[in-house]
Amino acid sequence: MKDRFSKSKHGGGAARSDHEKCANGLQTVFLVGFMGAGKTSVGRALSRRLGLPFEDLDDRIEDREGKTIAQIFRESGEAEFRRAETAALRQLLKEPQLSSRLVALGGGAFAEPGNALLIRDAQALSVFLDAPVEELLRRCDEQHQARPLRQNPKQFRDLYEKRRPSYMGASLRIETSGKDVEAVAAEVACSLGLE
Ligand code: S3P
Repeated sequence: MKDRFSKSKHGGGAARSDHEKCANGLQTVFLVGFMGAGKTSVGRALSRRLGLPFEDLDDRIEDREGKTIAQIFRESGEAEFRRAETAALRQLLKEPQLSSRLVALGGGAFAEPGNALLIRDAQALSVFLDAPVEELLRRCDEQHQARPLRQNPKQFRDLYEKRRPSYMGASLRIETSGKDVEAVAAEVACSLGLE
């Protein structure tokens, strides 16, 4: 069942009108979800597939601040990181769009109510890449990437539970468990009516 198309939507009518917007005009599609959800790798795969620009908001934060994410957390703490994250998001949303675009958010960005509101007010789409927390934990362990908020398994699971309701507010939810990146990208493209 690895490549079976299984689309899980909620928000019914809203999702349909979002889809129409996306099919007809310039759109920003935000990939949201917890650490290890595959936001960046699915974003890159979607970008190749659809020929649309892709950006990772964490890269923009690092460029703007002149520091790595790990440095920002270490030197200034999480509150300062969140401020920098919202500033980067505001900047991105203000930029004139020449084409539709794909943006991967860091795991905490969409869980900040102010950020989710900015995204909704901009009439952008949000796609929640969902997976069971144990799979997310395993993916993060395999990636050996510096993640300041990937501390111990209990803290990881607790944070996931706390944030999950926020992710569920996204325009679409795509189940990624047991699927490879290309299959998830194909499912997102199809769900948005882009393929
Ligand atoms: C964070 C996730 C990270 C990065 C930062 C904070 C979080 O991004 O934005 O370390 O709060 O979950 P990824 O989800 O890409 O790891």
